[in-house]
Amino acid sequence: MTTQTPQETTKDVPKEIFLRDYKPPSHSFAKVELAFDLREQGTTVRSIISAVPASGSTGELFLHGDESVKLDGVTVNGSAHERYERGSKGLTLKDLPNEPFELSITTTIEPQENTALEGLYKSSGNFCTQCEAEGFRRITFYQDRPDCMSTFTTRIEADKAKYPVLLSNGNLIDSGELEGGRHFTVWEDPWVKPCYLFALVAGNLGMIEDKFKTMSGKDVTLRIFTEKHNIDKCAHAMTSLIKSMKWDEETFGLEYDLDLFNIVAVDDFNMGAMENKSLNIFNSRLVLATPQSATDADYAAIEGVVAHEYFHNYTGNRVTCRDWFQLSLKEGLTVYRDQEFSADMNSRGVKRIGDVSRLRTAQFAQDAGPMAHPIRPESYIKMDNFYTVTVYEKGAEVVRMYETLLGKDGFRKGMDLYFQRHDGQAVTTEDFFAAMSDANGADLSTFKPWYSQAGTPRVTANGSYDADAKTFTLSLTQVVPKTPGQDTKIPVMCPVAVGLVGPDGKDMELTLDGKSVGTTTVLRFDKAEATYTFTGVEAKPVPSILRNFSAPVRLTTNLTQDDLVFLMANDSDAFNRWEAGQTLLRTLLLDLIKGDGQYKMDAAITTAMRAIIAGAKEPNADKAFIARAMMVPSAGELSDMLDEGTVDPAKIHEARTFVMKTLATELRADLEATMKANSAEKYSNEPADRAARSLKNTCIGYLSYLDDAAIAAMTYERFASADNMTDKIAALNSLSDKECDERIKAFAEFYEEWNKDPLVMNKWLGLQAMSNLPNNIANVKALMEGPAFDIKNPNKVYSLIGGFCASSVNFHAADGSGYEFLADVVIKLDDLNGQVASRMVSAFTRWKKYEPSRSSAMRAQLERIRAKKGLSENVFEIVSKSLEA
Ligand code: BES
Ligand code: ZN
Repeated sequence: MTTQTPQETTKDVPKEIFLRDYKPPSHSFAKVELAFDLREQGTTVRSIISAVPASGSTGELFLHGDESVKLDGVTVNGSAHERYERGSKGLTLKDLPNEPFELSITTTIEPQENTALEGLYKSSGNFCTQCEAEGFRRITFYQDRPDCMSTFTTRIEADKAKYPVLLSNGNLIDSGELEGGRHFTVWEDPWVKPCYLFALVAGNLGMIEDKFKTMSGKDVTLRIFTEKHNIDKCAHAMTSLIKSMKWDEETFGLEYDLDLFNIVAVDDFNMGAMENKSLNIFNSRLVLATPQSATDADYAAIEGVVAHEYFHNYTGNRVTCRDWFQLSLKEGLTVYRDQEFSADMNSRGVKRIGDVSRLRTAQFAQDAGPMAHPIRPESYIKMDNFYTVTVYEKGAEVVRMYETLLGKDGFRKGMDLYFQRHDGQAVTTEDFFAAMSDANGADLSTFKPWYSQAGTPRVTANGSYDADAKTFTLSLTQVVPKTPGQDTKIPVMCPVAVGLVGPDGKDMELTLDGKSVGTTTVLRFDKAEATYTFTGVEAKPVPSILRNFSAPVRLTTNLTQDDLVFLMANDSDAFNRWEAGQTLLRTLLLDLIKGDGQYKMDAAITTAMRAIIAGAKEPNADKAFIARAMMVPSAGELSDMLDEGTVDPAKIHEARTFVMKTLATELRADLEATMKANSAEKYSNEPADRAARSLKNTCIGYLSYLDDAAIAAMTYERFASADNMTDKIAALNSLSDKECDERIKAFAEFYEEWNKDPLVMNKWLGLQAMSNLPNNIANVKALMEGPAFDIKNPNKVYSLIGGFCASSVNFHAADGSGYEFLADVVIKLDDLNGQVASRMVSAFTRWKKYEPSRSSAMRAQLERIRAKKGLSENVFEIVSKSLEA
């Protein structure tokens, strides 16, 4: 007998799924009728499927089904069918008819025991579902794949007193009373959809209602459901929904396609929100808001996410994905759409800066580590692990590049053709690419590697001015770095938007290849090297390169410090004005971090920062932009720019603290004056007020770096008197790293005031968890045992445990205690909720980035987790890829 490794003997060796193995389904499902009998224990689900064998059918049909689902019976055309095999992933039905047949399946499930929050589960006593990506298989046996599209009719039966509200997708076509205090509803969704868009809600919920008249004059009823005590917190979500519907009509000509649109807010939800057809289900943190309980950032997130899920109705639902490797087809595109919506509703430049910061800190880091993957991945073990910043945020950048290359009108033509060709279909990113190319008669072949290559291209740009020839030459080079499994790369088309700023601070009119090209031109840079020569350049300009961050690349230029200071003051492109300042700050901080510990401030930077703050006094100052420009690059962004094997989070923290403290000391008078000038008498939610609030709170954040009792007292005073959550949280945050009585008092009072509101308690947990006060881990452990925490609730885990992982000092404590704590939590969570556990374990993926003692401590924890018996596939995939790469 041969010996096998333990891995080979377990029947559940996690299996990797490959894009190249894609095969169309063996049967199509013309129609599905579901009937749910909801009970406190043992919910039964009957499904009747009109199945149609594809040509060449072998009489076998594989249906996905989770091991937790109890199979009560299968019938084919009304007769019991016993020729099937059940495996750990589902059911293979055999000897099926060769013509269309009716398949009926009955299952029993236990939603009340479902802690994974996938499939049908209970949240605050109500039933709800989450089926994307592969949750439907926890409800019944089905072809749980997005290219199996069908119409659904859903009958829901439940106790009437406990669950007066019974919802599913589509239109309500029947309802009534039943014996024993029970009642039922029947819903019919006329649009074909994959099962991941199925949803059901049953509960005792309150509701607000509004109306929307579509561009063709149809009335749509809009409803938002929440637990009754939260019903007064839904107005902002409703306003956001109406704005989204209007925007999609105006921008893309897309009109809502049913008479009813529902949103339901639930407290227990793994993700942010879900676009189920006409029945979106939201994490309550992305619905509920009042000025007293939610911050300006929460308001903005709600507006963006409501829009995102609504926009999926076309980009995701009407046209969906052929398989999960195509996820970016719907997510990248829909993120691009929600970014554009938010840019139109708020300050465009500030929105772009926020989006790029997030891309750089999170996505660039992922693209440089063991989990690097293309926006269209090649394989996965657990699809949940591929809802990543790469698929989403880099995917959105790829969509944005079409717009940059083809122009707004060209992009719209491509979108129109995409819907014309593919409405009602499950398609691929190739189909999207083809629609964009064909609609514009454009050859975009060198653009394609954006879909298949991982890694962030490195672009260098060197400019030189020839005073005699009056030319300005820009030389570009690009290299796409190696990533796990991809050793060779080819150049990819990068749209590089360029302008030349003259000595007068104004954009020059550009001439390239003898043609006049305006003041910003988009270079189609798709080779390893290329040079571009602008002619008729009368005076030495400063080039503004990669305007609006026109491609998701790492850019290095030969701009001098003087050039950058000049661009900060003069660039017409808001993004590059901000970027110039950030480049100065990044250079300074990286020098300090890599230096010998003798910290020295750069006077030019202090002067530049003083000028930025002074800008707030100008009559039409963009205060939101100024607040953003005052922000110093985050620890995460800096860490990403350091070499593998060198990162010492304590040093990054020290260097950042030095810079903040020095600026606060030298600019104290300016900061205090700006803070006072922007302190409103009374809260208001107008854009100008929000901008002033963010500027004021940025000033307070700086001042908090001063060791001055008066500042702590002032901050506490502002905390105590704040009439809105934005200001309360800003003040509390400014106290949270300070060893002072005010901090203790403020956190205690905040708890007293808000302990009944779980969403506000998440903020309270998060701020304490992130604190860089020495030995704060003890406080975090105590909070975990306290009444505000619940390990079964994802929001609480993200706030407390996720927050802790963001502390440079305590998560990365030199003694390894932070790493050990995280591993303990992951091991515990893994049994309850694999998705949440795998998100938490991701804090370890970049272990090789750290200096030797920390990286070996992190590695040891990864190994400890890998050794856990019965580890979920979710965590297994992240841990094994991290260790192997
Ligand atoms: N379709 C997703 C939600 C989802 C993802 C459910 C993965 C289950 C597994 C939804 O459209 C989405 O992308 N939500 C984001 C927020 C969005 C604004 C980027 C989320 O939940 O974080
Ligand atoms: Zn989405």
